Amino acid sequence: MTEQAAPVAEFSDVEDTRTRFRDAGYLADDRLATTVFLLSRLDKPVLLEGPAGVGKTQLATSLAEVTGRRLIRLQCYEGQDETKALYEWDYGKQMLYTQILREKIGQVVEDAADLQEAVERIAQQDSIFFSERFLAARPLLEAITSEEPVVLLIDEVDRADEALEAVLLELLSEFQISIPEVGTIRAKTLPYVVLTSNNTRDLSAALKRRCLHLFLDYPEADRELEIIRSKDTGLSEALATRLVEIVRGLRDLELRKSPSISETIDWARTLAVLGVEELTADVLSATLNVVVKYERDLEKARRALPGMVDPNATVPDSLGHGHGHGHGHDADHAHDGTDAGPDGRAVRAAKDQPGRHDAAYAGNGRSSEEGRPPKVVPTGQGERSFAARSARKRPV
Ligand SMILES: Nc1ncnc2c1ncn2[C@@H]1O[C@H](COP(=O)(O)OP(=O)(O)O)[C@@H](O)[C@H]1O
Ligand SMILES: [Mg+2]
Repeated sequence: MTEQAAPVAEFSDVEDTRTRFRDAGYLADDRLATTVFLLSRLDKPVLLEGPAGVGKTQLATSLAEVTGRRLIRLQCYEGQDETKALYEWDYGKQMLYTQILREKIGQVVEDAADLQEAVERIAQQDSIFFSERFLAARPLLEAITSEEPVVLLIDEVDRADEALEAVLLELLSEFQISIPEVGTIRAKTLPYVVLTSNNTRDLSAALKRRCLHLFLDYPEADRELEIIRSKDTGLSEALATRLVEIVRGLRDLELRKSPSISETIDWARTLAVLGVEELTADVLSATLNVVVKYERDLEKARRALPGMVDPNATVPDSLGHGHGHGHGHDADHAHDGTDAGPDGRAVRAAKDQPGRHDAAYAGNGRSSEEGRPPKVVPTGQGERSFAARSARKRPV
């Protein structure tokens, strides 16, 4: 294989990786920094799986930035075929050339005895028109043929059909692409390849085997706070700390779409712009649409907010009228219904079992894991609930 181009500085170790990402505004934890370091040393693609908005795409963008490599992005979607991912023949250019070369082509068939022979002669020239010159490179081929090493981002690969996933296999293990008319094109320089998946369907074992795999979950509270801090949202440290707790509480609600890091950032900015000095249930409720995007999620979140802000608050029956004005309490166990009292919360908690909406949302009529007791899952819960949710939501 060909040599690496010179100007790209390699990561010297995990710490160096982490520092360079931090300088570029991306805060990586140990696992993440280690995975990226290995990606750069083992020439193995990395597959990042996890819920939306946890920094998967951004990781690839930042990787390009800190290594000075160009980012080539393949955004996957349903029905995408290899002509959009790998290459297609540049029909327009082929036509143009045949037009210009009309006379020359005429000479080739001039003295052909019959049509059959003329066709044979033209066919012998096939390889001219189906050569690299007439290839229109799409992102995958572009990454392979680039003179300079690049970062190749294959984004949301779970949206692509399985057929396209199969096409990726050769590229991912051999860094090469076979084109029947041309032959095998090997990478001039090895790209750093980052694949992301939101887990809407299982990826093939073959694909996973070729990659370093990392599950990116919602960050720990500390790191999320650090990310918020790094974005200069204008929100005070104390309020940002509370806000992160509240968002973590919302994530425990198993909403159709849990708020992600970017939404926490947006919420912090919104509250700062409004000049909010105290995170009351009212103020949070009024701005909740910044982080919660589905109507039914909004209802659910509004009901839970007063309990998160003040676990002793009495929740009124009508929606959106939270009266909790209390102060700090660990959001992790303030809202999960375990404290459902005689004031009607038990009834609501029963209705609000995790996953209640999912069967309907997925439109598959299957009931979700019914009858589970309300959970208290302070750590690692995102991963599990995410896995459960994505399993339920697989397209039918
Ligand atoms: N570790 C991080 N450090 C800094 N910002 C982050 C981090 N993770 C996520 N973000 C922020 O969250 C936003 C959304 O991330 P994105 O990469 O689009 O999510 P995903 O691709 O996982 O859906 C990013 O643009 C960035 O502002
Ligand atoms: Mg993304």
